[in-house]
Amino acid sequence: MIIGVLKEKSPEQRVAVLPESISPITDLKTEVMIERGAGENAHASDEQYSEGGAKLADRAGLLSSADVLLSVNPLTVEEIRSVGKEQVLIGTYGPLNNPDIVKACTSAGLTLFSMDAIPRITRAQSMDVLSSMATVAGYRAVLDAAFNLPVFFPMFMTAAGTIKPAKVLVLGAGVAGLQAIATARKLGAVVEAFDVRSAVKEEVQSLGAKFVEVEGAREDKDAGGYAVEQTEEFKEKQSQMIQDHAEKSDVIICTAQIPGKKAPVLIKKETVEKMKNGSVIVDLAASSGGNCELSENDKTVVKAGVTIIGNSNYPSGMPMDSSRMYGKNLINFLKLLIDEDGNLKLDFEDDVVKGACITHKGEIMNERVKSVIGS
Ligand code: NAI
Repeated sequence: MIIGVLKEKSPEQRVAVLPESISPITDLKTEVMIERGAGENAHASDEQYSEGGAKLADRAGLLSSADVLLSVNPLTVEEIRSVGKEQVLIGTYGPLNNPDIVKACTSAGLTLFSMDAIPRITRAQSMDVLSSMATVAGYRAVLDAAFNLPVFFPMFMTAAGTIKPAKVLVLGAGVAGLQAIATARKLGAVVEAFDVRSAVKEEVQSLGAKFVEVEGAREDKDAGGYAVEQTEEFKEKQSQMIQDHAEKSDVIICTAQIPGKKAPVLIKKETVEKMKNGSVIVDLAASSGGNCELSENDKTVVKAGVTIIGNSNYPSGMPMDSSRMYGKNLINFLKLLIDEDGNLKLDFEDDVVKGACITHKGEIMNERVKSVIGS
């Protein structure tokens, strides 16, 4: 069986598999073919892939001959139409936001696995690309904030006087938020964090940050560790609390999300107007509407003296480790799909395989995608 690795299109810098991950894939008794130049933006050369055991190919050759096609981002609809129906696509397809791609896959009859649909359960942690990429985003968001901030992060006692540490407020303490807290603390900032799930209080505190609480948050034990929609009364209380803390903060890192929903708006225009001149907001949720009312997706804007950064692809800006983590997640997932003789074996009784499968043999397999896009 041939596993093909495709080159990503600009401006994406990542690659699905680094040279170091070729042998773990060939160990599964498969062959690996990689598109020429696929790793160049992640600092991996064709020679390194060849030495690692992969064969180099052009894109057309890969699309027509690989049994499994690995990528970070989705193939185009035209490419999907050119792929044979026995082929399997694996990448981050964002199926709920890409109905045309899902429909193209069903019409073509091919099998699509989307890594972002892998259920966030303990057994699938090693395949969880969302957590891997959120880790990168939380880290880079803080570095970006520090770079754009006109003041230091750490406290300094110098001959020219004492510099106070920066105050950082982190909204949402999931994967990205916890990484943002840890990074901001390492840079010496005073950090506060807020989340609607009280379960994260201890984790926040163990990283050396203060947990800010607003009473009356709705929590659902059956939501799989995710947040749920809040009442209007809570939203009003929360908005006031965030405003009070935002006024004193130098940096706000926004990471709040409720899966499958538009990002909750936590920072209103009036709150931005009350913030210190020169302060910075990094909105990781910009692509799903933003936690800040004034963020713009993939843009940096300055409003009322506040720099608002809406970078929606931080992982691409750190392509080596992002690709390393992504590749490891892919390999762990491939192990579920390949039997000991190196053949494809799709076991839809397995929750992880079933959850990640978006289309197969002309059907939409994922219930959520089916209910949103229709059969
Ligand atoms: P997560 O689901 O692990 O964490 C989100 C947290 O927000 C949860 O702890 C949840 O309880 C909290 N939350 C929900 N509603 C809230 C509210 N009203 N107030 C306060 N907290 C609330 O998500 P993860 O993986 O950490 O991702 C966070 C965000 O970062 C997502 O929007 C994701 O799409 C985005 N992201 C952005 C990247 C970028 O490059 N910009 C890359 C990766 C992820």
